[in-house]
This record gives sequence, structure tokens and C-alpha cells, in this order.
Amino acid sequence: MIQSATGPMYYKGVYHLFYQYNPYAAVWGNISWAHSISYDLVNWIHLDNALSPDDPFDINGCWSGSTTVLPDGKPVILYTGSDTMNRQVQNLAEPKNVSDPLLREWVKSAHNPLMTPVDGIDPKSFRDPTTAWLGPDGLWRVLDSRSKEPLHSSTRTGMWECPDFYPVSIDGKDGVDTSSLDKSTKHVLKVSFNDCDHYVLGNYMPVTDNFSVDSDFLENGSDLRYDYGKFYASKTFFDSGKKRRILWGWIPESDSTTDDIEKGWSGLQWKRSRCSVPKMSASRTRNLRVDLYLEVSGITASQADVEVSFDLSNLKEAELMDPSWIDPQLLCSQKTASVRGNVGPFGILAFASNDLTEQTAIFLRVLVIRADRCIRIPELQIDHSIVESFGGEGRACITARVYPKLAIDNQAYLYAFNNGTFDVNISTLNAWSMKKAQIVSSTKRRKPH
Ligand code: FRU
Repeated sequence: MIQSATGPMYYKGVYHLFYQYNPYAAVWGNISWAHSISYDLVNWIHLDNALSPDDPFDINGCWSGSTTVLPDGKPVILYTGSDTMNRQVQNLAEPKNVSDPLLREWVKSAHNPLMTPVDGIDPKSFRDPTTAWLGPDGLWRVLDSRSKEPLHSSTRTGMWECPDFYPVSIDGKDGVDTSSLDKSTKHVLKVSFNDCDHYVLGNYMPVTDNFSVDSDFLENGSDLRYDYGKFYASKTFFDSGKKRRILWGWIPESDSTTDDIEKGWSGLQWKRSRCSVPKMSASRTRNLRVDLYLEVSGITASQADVEVSFDLSNLKEAELMDPSWIDPQLLCSQKTASVRGNVGPFGILAFASNDLTEQTAIFLRVLVIRADRCIRIPELQIDHSIVESFGGEGRACITARVYPKLAIDNQAYLYAFNNGTFDVNISTLNAWSMKKAQIVSSTKRRKPH
């Protein structure tokens, strides 16, 4: 079982990914820090586990945490241990050999546990330390899972799993290092609760440690999320080589635990970016008549990158939005792809079998508030059992799990479809095949008992 990304990091030209891992079963338990490395974020080598639960301060699991690269370039791990009394405590581990770019071996500190749940802290909700950042006073700061922190308190949420706190530039596209004191930044506070990754934006004053948020979690109907589908306990890191911030998320399964046990694995790590390796592309520009199924051929439909935009010249025909429709997820579950509307539903059918008995619709239905406003430009990534769709140039994202039985590998087809009443035009439709990534194992990972 694979769970949350714990300490992604870039070190000496190598990308490191650590993640919560059960070496023995497809269900949660025996939690260790698995370790994989890559030179390009596409092809991966699995190494031995970096941390295993074998000391009194982590005997019940080496849970989530973070890596921090110290000013002298040395990386360290701060992680939560579930100790002999099932208390959550924070521990440190350091690389055995910093000149090994693969950082194969990690040594737990002799001072562990470094932080214990004192002063009335709930020992069951004291976990998941963030990447540390250095204040102007020379002291390091970290956040943990308590939703009442000196930095920010929220009354609308339960505890925060896997918090992440980092600066983003307000006038440039480059990523910013976590400890940067650059003034032209805002800070993102991401926390995981209710099966989703929520975030707020705010201004952080390093001297006073004051964080004033633009709008709090779930305040005034505001609910900013990284993803509105399956995407949880994510973690970013600053890639100092390419000056960008990279987001890793855990995509849980949506099948049953029995199915997970039968297939022998569960969970996967997903990097949020347009990272496919284009091989071939297929481009189409045409009218999408009602009831037309337009096959997007010439690509591997089970692993593809798709970009499609629609030109809607007939918006005056679109249905008006009923002001009582305030829950988009509820609305989508009622007005599915098979419920005919005026302008839409139209979109893409992924994982379609050749007789269309199996299909996954990623679709749009245009509802207007004022008849002169509506732009939708979806982009999709399709990868065997995942569909990740971006709208509004990435501002909203929905990741879904799909378990096709017929539409597998070269038996999967991709179509554009229109189940509305009026024709729409496809102004661009580009689709690319993705090459298979190479994943090799250089581990002595123990086999299940
Ligand atoms: C969610 C989480 C973390 C915890 C870990 C344990 O990712 O519950 O809060 O540290 O899993 O595996």
C-alpha cells in the first residue's frame, strides 16, 4: 500500500520521493518511509526503505513528515513516530553519507523523540511536521497537524493532516524557496481534511510570525481546493535546479478494500503538472454535431494527454442557471452526461470500449448566469485508471479513478461527443500519446509474510 508523499526533495541533481508505505500488504499498517529517485521525474528507481518502524519512538509507524535542506546543503527528515504508547512524537533522521546523491541510508537521531505531546497537546493529533523554514532570528519553524497553531487557528475545520506552508511569487512564474524572505510573495497554507486538500492564501510577516489570511478555510462560501476529486495529503517541494515548486499528491483508490487485497496493491503518487512525454499527436478542428461520436484516433487512448477547446457561438440557447443550484457536485451527480441539455453535455469519452458499452465521460454543460459569459477550456490527462481534468487553465481540477474492464490498453478508445440539443464547434483538439515510464527496483524490500 502506498499513501501520502512525505518528503519530496531535490538533492545534487536527483529528485527524491519518500512516501508512506506498507511493505507487507495492500492495506494501511507497518508504515515505513519508502524511497524512490529519478533524474527526470518520469523514470524512477525504487531504493530500500529510508525509515522503518523499529525503535521505541516509532515502533507503531514512521508516519508523515517532511524533508528540509539546511543552509549548508545537508538534507534532514523530520517525521512523526507512533511510539510504544501510540503517542505521536516528532523525530529526526539524517543521511549516513551526504556525498551519496542517492541518499540510500538514513540514521535516526540519538536525541529522538525531539518533540513530544506536552502541555495538554492531544497525543493523537500531533503529527505531520512541515518542511522547516528559517526565521530572521535564526530559529527554525515548523507547523504540525493541530488546527490551532500560533501561526493560524481555524474553528471551521477538524485537525489538519499533512499541512504545507510555502511562499508563491505574486509577480513571477518561478517557484520560491520555503525559507525565502522575498517580499513579493504570498503564502499558501494547505491542509488536508474531509478527504480533500484545502488551501488559503495570505500574507506572512517573518519578523512577527503573523499570517493574515485573505479568507479563512470554508469562510463565506469560499472553499479553495487543489482538486475536487481524489487527491489527498499532498506535499510540495522547491526544485532549486529549475526554480519551480512541484506538487505531489496521493491518489487513493475508489474500489473496495477486498479488491485492493485481491489486486495486491493500492494507492499511487501523482505529480501535478503537464509532464507527459509526447510521442504522436492527433489534431482535429470541426463541428461537433448533436449525437456525433468523433473518434480521436492515432494515439494510445489508455495513456494520453488531451487538450480541447470549444467555440460556443450559440450561448443564447444555453439554459439559465437556477440560483438555487449552489452545490456544483450535487448538480453534476444529477445532471449526468446522459441527461440531455441545450448546450451540452458535450466533451470527451475516455476509456471507451469499441461498442461504447464502457465509457467515462468528461463533459461540460453550459448554464449561464448572463448569456454573454462562458469560457471553458478543459485539459485531460488519462493514465490507465486515472482521469485528471483541468478547467479554467488549471484553476479547477478534478481527479477521478476509473477501473475499466473492457477499455484496457489498445482496447481503449477516445471520442469527442455531444449529447446536447445544439451543435458546438471544437476549435482545437490535440491529443498526445504518452510513452511508458521506466520503473526499476534496486531494493531488498521484504516480501509479504
Ligand atoms: C494521512 C495520514 C497522516 C499520517 C499518515 C499515517 O496521510 O493520516 O496524517 O501521518 O497518514 O500513515
